[in-house]
Amino acid sequence: MAVGSIAKEPDGDTIAMFAGLGLGSNAFALQQEAALSKEKIMARTVVVTGSTSGIGLAIATAFVAKGDNVVINGFGKPEEIDGIKNKLEASGGGKVIYHPADMTKPAEIADMIATANNTFGSVDVLVNNAGIQHVEKIEDFPIEKWDQIIAINLSSSFHTIRAAIPLMKAKKYGRIINIASAHGLVASPFKSAYVAAKHGILGLTKTAALELAEFGVTVNAICPGYVLTPLVEKQIPDTAKARGMTEEQVKNEVILKAQPTHEFVKAEEIGALSLYLASDEARQVTGTHVSIDGGWTAE
Ligand SMILES: NC(=O)c1ccc[n+]([C@@H]2O[C@H](COP(=O)([O-])OP(=O)(O)OC[C@H]3O[C@@H](n4cnc5c(N)ncnc54)[C@H](O)[C@@H]3O)[C@@H](O)[C@H]2O)c1
Repeated sequence: MAVGSIAKEPDGDTIAMFAGLGLGSNAFALQQEAALSKEKIMARTVVVTGSTSGIGLAIATAFVAKGDNVVINGFGKPEEIDGIKNKLEASGGGKVIYHPADMTKPAEIADMIATANNTFGSVDVLVNNAGIQHVEKIEDFPIEKWDQIIAINLSSSFHTIRAAIPLMKAKKYGRIINIASAHGLVASPFKSAYVAAKHGILGLTKTAALELAEFGVTVNAICPGYVLTPLVEKQIPDTAKARGMTEEQVKNEVILKAQPTHEFVKAEEIGALSLYLASDEARQVTGTHVSIDGGWTAE
């Protein structure tokens, strides 16, 4: 029973199909109305934090392709963000708006959720994805980096969820998906803030799921293994320094070694998993995590 508010226009193919069937104008109008009201029921409002790059962009792409209206967010040059927005809208049926909320700023986060609701009339799916990394020994780890990672990778999800709950409760419908990590389940050295934040997000996921279970709102986490995005590419030189290895050794002996398949996870695969968790079929899946890590955490 997904709900949304903005309907899509029928496309040329649909009109041609009715013409091809030889339907009269009344029958066509009725069929068109039925098609439109179906679209209206299906189009949801989806907010994806940190969706100007990597996994978040793949998730936004998956929902737009389904016909959902999506709020994208994250950093980038204005022309790059315009390009992303235009490409997304051209790729599917949904409408796309951009909100520049900085995930370290609670007031901006609240404004992003309010803007989504004011623009599209609801917030049906919330994907907490924004995240950063820093790789360094604990004794050398900059205090401001610790604070920044906890703010972006953990506290921002508290702020988005807090703002979205009244809207979802009122509609008795919602899907909250937190992009955690294999590092929400197991640790690696030199990633103290990231591992702490990702373990924390699993606790928040379970707590929110219990509070929302009777309101038609599910809350789950996805725990990906390594995906070759800018976040991973940027940490290769620092990991090489921390471990005294070459960058090639880090890729093969640290990153891909962690995953028994010895392959990177694809961002699109996380998009597909998000669509499942947001589906009606997943309505009894709540308060849990799904690993997509090539077998990493089975070891
Ligand atoms: N890449 C991986 O291997 C991997 C594995 C497991 C989990 N994850 C998680 O997936 C999520 C996305 O990571 P990615 O690899 O796609 O990274 P990425 O660097 O490609 O994208 C991160 C996104 O977050 C945005 N962002 C960063 N700081 C922000 C802030 N203060 N406010 C708003 N937006 C901000 C960036 O602009 C970008 O859009 C993160 O939570 C990450 O921890 C990634």
